[in-house]
Amino acid sequence: MILVTGATGNLGKSTIEFLLKKGVAPSNIAALVRSEEKAIDLTNKGITIRIGDYDHYQSLVDAFKGINRLLLISGSDIVNRSKQQENAVKAAKEAGVKHIFYTSFERKNETDSSPIHFVAASHMATEALIQQSGLVYTIFRNNLYLDILPWFFGDNVLETGVFLPAGETKAALTLRDDMAEAIANVLITDGHENQTYALSNLENVSMADLAKSLSDIVGKTIPYTNPSTQVYVETLTKANVPNEFIGMFAGFSEAIKQGEFETSKSDLETLLGRKPITAKQYLATIYK
Ligand SMILES: NC(=O)c1ccc[n+]([C@@H]2O[C@H](COP(=O)([O-])OP(=O)(O)OC[C@H]3O[C@@H](n4cnc5c(N)ncnc54)[C@H](OP(=O)(O)O)[C@@H]3O)[C@@H](O)[C@H]2O)c1
Repeated sequence: MILVTGATGNLGKSTIEFLLKKGVAPSNIAALVRSEEKAIDLTNKGITIRIGDYDHYQSLVDAFKGINRLLLISGSDIVNRSKQQENAVKAAKEAGVKHIFYTSFERKNETDSSPIHFVAASHMATEALIQQSGLVYTIFRNNLYLDILPWFFGDNVLETGVFLPAGETKAALTLRDDMAEAIANVLITDGHENQTYALSNLENVSMADLAKSLSDIVGKTIPYTNPSTQVYVETLTKANVPNEFIGMFAGFSEAIKQGEFETSKSDLETLLGRKPITAKQYLATIYK
């Protein structure tokens, strides 16, 4: 049986949808959720619900019993994630899981000077723990989601243009559903033992490229402004954007500028058996 954690989230839900589309019987899929009420759609599809919380070790041991393949989707609680994922890896071992799959994150700078050390550190710690655990593993190094762009651009992007301190550097932004389909393909085939896969798009795009794509899509010029981080923070603060969002947008923009997500290494096309959705194709689905 395959168990998917984070099954009420975007990536988990989408991976389960692809498993079903590819012919896995619902009775062979289990979903780890924190609350049964949030999982009614999964229950209705015949998926087995296992209740568990990354914070509660024993709940994970119980939930992982009888599971051969466990997809551990990285948690969204960035502050507590290292400990939570340590719980999940140790519980997988105790419960007798055969093969663990983990959704990690693309990065280059692994030191604490990285502008995204606040997310990268727990991914690195979990990868190391998995590799030392003795479990058979597969690690996915997910690039930045294309799906976060509308959030980063803000609601008025078509009036004000793209305003982000991301420089001119490119990034291999990737559609979350493409990652989910690739992960589903890996979960249902053999030959992925102890592999680390790069789930990155084939093309790298800069913010200027994205603004150009937006311009083509909506038929008017959408400019890209590349402010200093200080001006960016001041502008968003004046617009009453909450501080935690400003910090996150600024941190990820700086990471893009430093080339953290630019890569020519990708396993996505091979794992999907087709070309991934491009940034421009994705933007057209949102802004056309
Ligand atoms: N590559 C990127 O650009 C990018 C962007 C955003 C996030 N991420 C990472 O990728 C992961 C998946 O993305 P997503 O879009 O599917 O995120 P999401 O929609 O926020 O889903 C997160 C999932 O994690 C579950 N979860 C959180 N804390 C948990 C806990 N203590 N115990 C058990 N489950 C817990 C949530 O359950 P509830 O429904 O109960 O809250 C939810 O199902 C995120 O969690 C984050 O680590 C990557």
